[in-house]
Amino acid sequence: MSDGGGKFTALSAELHDYIVAHGSREDGALARVRESTAALGDLAVMQVSPDQGALLTMLARLVGATRAIELGTFTGYSAICIARGLTAGGTLLACELDPERAESARANFTDAGVADRIEVRVGPAQETLNALLAAEGSDPSGFDTTPFDLAFIDADKSGYPGYYESCLELVRAGGLIVIDNVLRGGAVLDPATTAPDRSDGDEGTRAIVELNERIATDERVDVAMLGVADGITLARKR
Ligand SMILES: C[S@@+](CC[C@H](N)C(=O)[O-])C[C@H]1O[C@@H](n2cnc3c(N)ncnc32)[C@H](O)[C@@H]1O
Repeated sequence: MSDGGGKFTALSAELHDYIVAHGSREDGALARVRESTAALGDLAVMQVSPDQGALLTMLARLVGATRAIELGTFTGYSAICIARGLTAGGTLLACELDPERAESARANFTDAGVADRIEVRVGPAQETLNALLAAEGSDPSGFDTTPFDLAFIDADKSGYPGYYESCLELVRAGGLIVIDNVLRGGAVLDPATTAPDRSDGDEGTRAIVELNERIATDERVDVAMLGVADGITLARKR
């Protein structure tokens, strides 16, 4: 493993505030999503940060995304950011397990003026991915079978390896898979999760460690791992 040379700026809370203030433009609709989500208490930590939101909009624009998929929508902040970066007429398929969260996300999409661009699919994300994979090349169930330009993975961490493999099949060559929480708050360095047998540590972190290792040498993609928020991997399908 090569050494990174220590060439990075460690973030303090103040420096992160500076990044948010100068590198993102959270408007009224996104601020309302953040405020209403804060009322959920500790759960609100699941929401992407404003700088991540700005990055998602930018990435969607850069890949010229017409069709995007998100796994793990929660109350909709990241979905709004992705939807805003889509080309005219573009659509986002937002997958969320929890019907209550999906309902709040829908209300937030309406408030943000992006409801016409987002279809919410309620249920386990892997089931939706499996249905999309089964429909590929045919169109038996009314599923749009156009390949995706962008996938954002932010659902249950133990599902990540499966989500990555499915997204890799569903995304076009040159399309982008964006994976959140790849540092797990630093737990990816915890010996309990990095030991060869990986018998300890939490299942989600083990899954992320396994996926990080797989992607690092995966010849099917170009990769960049960013130290943004809790770590984001960009995997561009070759
Ligand atoms: C980290 S949050 C997503 C945050 C969201 N991207 C945002 O910016 O607000 C993870 C979400 O994934 C959902 N989730 C958990 N397991 C899931 C599954 N198997 N399929 C789909 N969604 C799932 C949870 O209900 C939760 O809302």
